[in-house]
This record gives sequence, C-alpha cells and structure tokens, in this order.
Amino acid sequence: ATERTLSIIKPDAVAKNAIGEIVTRFEKAGLKVVAAKMLHLDNDKAGGFYAEHKERPFFNDLVGFMTSGPVVVQVLEGENAVATNRDLMGATNPKDAEPGTIRADFAETIDANAVHGSDSPESAEREISYFFSNDEICPR
Ligand code: CMP
Repeated sequence: ATERTLSIIKPDAVAKNAIGEIVTRFEKAGLKVVAAKMLHLDNDKAGGFYAEHKERPFFNDLVGFMTSGPVVVQVLEGENAVATNRDLMGATNPKDAEPGTIRADFAETIDANAVHGSDSPESAEREISYFFSNDEICPR
C-alpha cells in the first residue's frame, strides 16, 4: 500500500554535503519527497522527537548530536515507504549495515549514523505530525 514515512538527514550527512546523494537514493527506489525542510533543532525539539529514548544511556549524546548542526526532515511517500526506507538506510549501527546502504556508505558511528527513518506506520504518523502541518505536505 502507499505509505508515508519520516526521514531525517542528520547533521553528519549534511556536513558531508551528501543531502543530494541521499535523496537520490530515495527517488531511485521509487519514494517521492512530498515535504521537506532544513532545520537546526534545539534541545527541546530534538529531545521531544526522541522522547521514547529518554531513559536510555545514549539519550544525552543523541540530543547533543542532533542539535550539533542543521538537519533535513522530509516526508517520503511510496509503496511500503516505511520498510523501503529502512532497507535503504541499513542497520542502525553502520558497522552492521549491508554494503550499499546509506549508513554503510555515509555513516561512521551509531551516533553519527547519517539518517533516521520511522520504524512503523504508526510512528511515521506521529513523527510526520511532529515536524509538518498538513498544509506543508504536497501529495503528488
Ligand atoms: P535513530 O534511528 O535516529 O533513533 C535513535 C538513535 O539513537 C539511533 O538512530 C542512533 O543514532 C542513536 N543511538 C545511539 N546509541 C544507540 C543504541 N545503543 N541503540 C540504538 N540507537 C542508538
């Protein structure tokens, strides 16, 4: 079914000037960008996004990293968008990511892992509305 997912190109990948190469991978896989913006997150916005990880030992480092530079948040739309994007990204830890995946090619560490993607259609809905109002999404 046609789905939407939230993608974040993280500060490490933006700093590497890899925005275009990453978006090209989405497009070549049949995902369409239906919303996009560049943001420099503050502690509240990044911490709220990752609220489910609040008690994890890596939470402070995660928020510190996600506020270290600008990110590009996008809504991707397409057939099985959530799973398609997760396949394109590869494993959370780039050391475990399959060759040819975004994280294998652009990420260095589990913290600086280039991209975020929603892990289910339910989290996609929540994550999309965390960053975008309905009138910022352009179905096409
Ligand atoms: P992301 O998909 O954005 O969701 C949470 C992030 O926490 C994850 O990518 C990683 O970048 C980061 N992280 C750091 N340490 C861990 C860990 N041990 N397990 C899962 N995620 C981690």
